Amino acid sequence: MLKQYNEFAEKYSKLVVSHNQDSIKAYFRYFDFSLKGKKILDLGCGNGYDLIYMQSKGADVFGIDASEEMVCMAKKNIPNGDIKIGYFENIPFSDYFFDIISSKWALQSSPNIGPIYMEIARVLKPSGLLIYLSSHPIRQFIEKKCKRKSYFQKEIVESIFFDGQVSVREPSHTLNEYLSPVFFENFSLLAYEEGVDSAAEKVDGDIYPSYFIIKACRKNKQTK
Ligand SMILES: C[S@@+](CC[C@H](N)C(=O)[O-])C[C@H]1O[C@@H](n2cnc3c(N)ncnc32)[C@H](O)[C@@H]1O
Repeated sequence: MLKQYNEFAEKYSKLVVSHNQDSIKAYFRYFDFSLKGKKILDLGCGNGYDLIYMQSKGADVFGIDASEEMVCMAKKNIPNGDIKIGYFENIPFSDYFFDIISSKWALQSSPNIGPIYMEIARVLKPSGLLIYLSSHPIRQFIEKKCKRKSYFQKEIVESIFFDGQVSVREPSHTLNEYLSPVFFENFSLLAYEEGVDSAAEKVDGDIYPSYFIIKACRKNKQTK
């Protein structure tokens, strides 16, 4: 499942900018400060679209992605960035290296969020920022698309977006998993926002959040 984006990396990259404007605009508002000289790592950088924006604001940009196809496109789009194949669960950078960790529409792909928070806390400088956008747990619950479903049961759900042109299979999460004790041990929550992206599937025509954004500050403590 981790490599599923290889199958439609180019299609995703062609559609994402026109279809995801709601969440792109909401997310970029969180980077509305000087990024000059800041080292930013994008987890699940895809074709590098977000990193191009951050680089235009003066950041030193780094990205990892599990998909070789995505990494290939990102390297072409950002020749002077540092983009590699890598996994959130084992981030290929040294301790306390980054000022900011960013991630958009990617963390929900992982089965367990807790170990990723530990990795993020390892590579972030004390007081560094974690800003991410992920699929809303309510959306994933509704996307289970069956009767008598349980919000609390972790299951693989199919998520269909971009007017039905792309679908992915991802494990469901609860809000409790994102805002877990591991999160609060390592970060202070600065902001939480939820919103609707018109590109997301609307099961039964219901209106519900498709994403949430978290902004957090790494606590000033050693991880080891
Ligand atoms: C929906 S795309 C998002 C791309 C981009 N961030 C955006 O907002 O358009 C999710 C990306 O995360 C990558 N990804 C998912 N799980 C990953 C993991 N555990 N480690 C590394 N990359 C992962 C996928 O390969 C894919 O390129």
